[in-house]
Amino acid sequence: MPAGKPADVRIVRLAPEHAAAAARLHIAGQPGTFLTNLGADVLTAIYALLPQSRRGFGFAALPAAGEGGEVVLGFVSATTGAGGLFLELGARHAGKLLPPLLARYMRAPGLIVRSAQTLIYPLLAREPDSAHAAEHSSAELLSIMVEPRLRGQGIGALLLDALLAECATRDIAQLDVTVDAHNEGARRFYARHGFTERRTFRLYGRDMCLYGRPVG
Ligand SMILES: CC(C)(COP(=O)(O)OP(=O)(O)OC[C@H]1O[C@@H](n2cnc3c(N)ncnc32)[C@H](O)[C@@H]1OP(=O)(O)O)[C@@H](O)C(=O)NCCC(=O)NCCS
Repeated sequence: MPAGKPADVRIVRLAPEHAAAAARLHIAGQPGTFLTNLGADVLTAIYALLPQSRRGFGFAALPAAGEGGEVVLGFVSATTGAGGLFLELGARHAGKLLPPLLARYMRAPGLIVRSAQTLIYPLLAREPDSAHAAEHSSAELLSIMVEPRLRGQGIGALLLDALLAECATRDIAQLDVTVDAHNEGARRFYARHGFTERRTFRLYGRDMCLYGRPVG
């Protein structure tokens, strides 16, 4: 397929059947990061639970022609409250999440501190003088990942368009995203789609940038 031509895909709501493929894409797209280090089992559990929470939503890109949910070419996920979502996942689905999580913690205890940071990072990322955030509802893009060999063909743009349309139907006024400062490709992608940098902060010992854009 020539570069720049939109790929032949259909966009569907993210569903539990896409979870294992989403976890695999996440690991391929974000090597060496905290969530990736939690491992495929934990990520699969998170992506299975996210679309079942009222705080979580997302979309998957599937081949235009084809069966089933196993072949996922890309996905995007978002939440209306990251801290609340992770607490809800822990409280409501401890039985599914804890076994793979505990297995990872036994092998890599340092991940416990990073998990605690994941719960409090919405406080780190929040804009200090954010009257805007108090007045208007906002959502946070948690992850957007496209199959490595299919990047640069417009799949990411299609996923982001679907997410923004969903935000509009939910009366969400602003979409935020936290990006590793060294992830130049993702920063270009967000800048190209109307996101502007709001502030930087430290998370997991790394520099992070908070980006945001109005939904309308
Ligand atoms: C960022 C990402 C989702 C974009 O998806 P995509 O389908 O390649 O995006 P599109 O084809 O719609 O847009 C292409 C634009 O994305 C950006 N981009 C980032 N990484 C890219 C890559 N590896 N290849 C091509 N484009 C990339 C560029 O801005 C590019 O436009 P340009 O080449 O004119 O500068 C995808 O590159 C990806 O999965 N990256 C790894 C995971 C990641 O870092 N996700 C963001 C943090 S959660």
